[in-house]
Amino acid sequence: MSTLFSLSKEGSSGDHEGLALKETRITPIRRSGRRKLFVITGIAGTIVVVLALALGLGLGLGLKKTSNMSYVTTNSSFLLDQNFVVTNITTTRYYEFVISEATGSPNGFERTMLVVNNQFPGPLVEVNSGDELVVNVFNQLPNGTTIHWHGQLQNGTNYMDGTNGITQCPIPPGMNFTYRFTINPSQYGTFWYHAHASTQYTDGIYGPLVIHSPSEPIFGQYDRDALVILSDWYDVMSSGLLTQYLSSAGIDGSNYGGVNPGAEPPPDSGLINGKMNGSSFDLEPNLSYRLRIINMGTLTEFMFSVDSHVLSVVEADGISIEPVNVHRVPIHVAQRYSVILTTNQTAGSYNVRGEMQSSCYKLSNPNLNTMVLATMTYGASPTTPNTQDWSDAIPALCLDLNSTMIVPQIAMDPPNSTDVVQVFMSFQQTIQSGGTQTLAFMNSTSWLSDTTNPTLLQMSKAGIQTTFDSNQLVVVNDNITVFDLILNNYDDASHPFHLHGHVFWILGEGDGSYTSGVSQLSTTNPPRRDTLTLPGYGWVAIRFITDNPGLWAFHCHIGWHMAAGLLMQFADLPGQIQQLQIPSYLSDQCAQQGGGVVAN
Ligand code: C2O
Repeated sequence: MSTLFSLSKEGSSGDHEGLALKETRITPIRRSGRRKLFVITGIAGTIVVVLALALGLGLGLGLKKTSNMSYVTTNSSFLLDQNFVVTNITTTRYYEFVISEATGSPNGFERTMLVVNNQFPGPLVEVNSGDELVVNVFNQLPNGTTIHWHGQLQNGTNYMDGTNGITQCPIPPGMNFTYRFTINPSQYGTFWYHAHASTQYTDGIYGPLVIHSPSEPIFGQYDRDALVILSDWYDVMSSGLLTQYLSSAGIDGSNYGGVNPGAEPPPDSGLINGKMNGSSFDLEPNLSYRLRIINMGTLTEFMFSVDSHVLSVVEADGISIEPVNVHRVPIHVAQRYSVILTTNQTAGSYNVRGEMQSSCYKLSNPNLNTMVLATMTYGASPTTPNTQDWSDAIPALCLDLNSTMIVPQIAMDPPNSTDVVQVFMSFQQTIQSGGTQTLAFMNSTSWLSDTTNPTLLQMSKAGIQTTFDSNQLVVVNDNITVFDLILNNYDDASHPFHLHGHVFWILGEGDGSYTSGVSQLSTTNPPRRDTLTLPGYGWVAIRFITDNPGLWAFHCHIGWHMAAGLLMQFADLPGQIQQLQIPSYLSDQCAQQGGGVVAN
């Protein structure tokens, strides 16, 4: 185990920068006042300075232009195009994604980021249910990457799930991978995509995926559509933070009041639609807007609200729910909610709030401003709002919206379960040859991705009797099984868990350990979703059907935790896995990996 987390090659997105970009490497230093300071290394850097001085250019401007990394564009409008035709007639939609490093400053502090098509957040993918989606992903990073389509069922196309070490090998630098799959005709609503290799998405590889359908219960019942992308943000690359987080000393505690092995790095900022306190929603009066809120963050649960406007929640993770009015919506990492907001108050500007629930962190960052603001304006020209937050107290519980508020509009009672899996998650100090590490465990397994032989390929070759290495916890079932998955939390913090390839029912949750007894579980139209929050020192019971051939990750979506091993897998219908039409380029790219097991 000693070398498992020594970050080399894939998975540590920052490692190779020094090599690849040596000539014009620019290391940003935190701004002091309004002046930007840079440390420049290498010969080209010296030339840049000389040129900049000689030409009398402003230093920041001169350096930006001569860096070999392009500057990130922030999308300016997050209103969806009203001309998009929502229809049952399906088509094929093509996108090209170029994944690269770029320089950007979403929170005002310039750094290297990882981005899609030089945009942050990444471009909107917009489809109708049943459409075929083709995304050709070109990897221009110095490391391998994958793109995962969060929440997509991928029925029959498990190999397009984009999960490093499970459904594919990382796309090698300089190569491309074509994701081609059909959006399940039963799915509609708000989704997203993100890199699924190490903590790469933390550095910016994420964007929205919206699926329209005339069958969606809310179709035609609102006037306009807008995106609200919430994320937490770090001033430095995640790869370095991950190395510290996994090390015996933990992350450098000097900023956070001491040494804290096992504590996650707290973010430096929060963003709404890719900006700290700068996004604006320019709306029209007297219309109803569907705000599609997506938490694309790494660690942070947000509390979302708009001053003076009641929000009617109508969707949770792609499932339409009976409208419920709230002042604030708690949203954990990877979850989505749609809310209807009506622009029927006094014309003017209002605060849109994404309040970061920093009490859920193990470490606090004194420099973090947890109140992330955007401006919503209608019927007037935008000004800085002086509107008041709702006065009702915010419960600091780090929990989901109460499940009694999540009532699916299309009622569905789960079938009776045919099997039960009990899983315990914990963090444990493990002794390695190089010292101790805090790793995350599902039962007694701490996941480590096999980036040359993903579990899908292993099973497609060996079938049901596949034996996996000791870093994989895989529950294999060759019949269609209705699982009750009981997940117990031996950690004090709450964790947003996501199951790939399925929508599960939430049957119950509670404090302490689950003690069997059907009375605790509700099976009458329970909430259905793909990401739920497991309470600190608590349990959840979910039910799902193993009817989707493939290897499906079930993991905590906190980037740091997945990279520390908080992931297990379900293998549905192995007999059918062997018949999946896995494209040959997938296995070819596995043969092109450097070899060996590397970091998640
Ligand atoms: Cu949103 Cu395993 O991912």
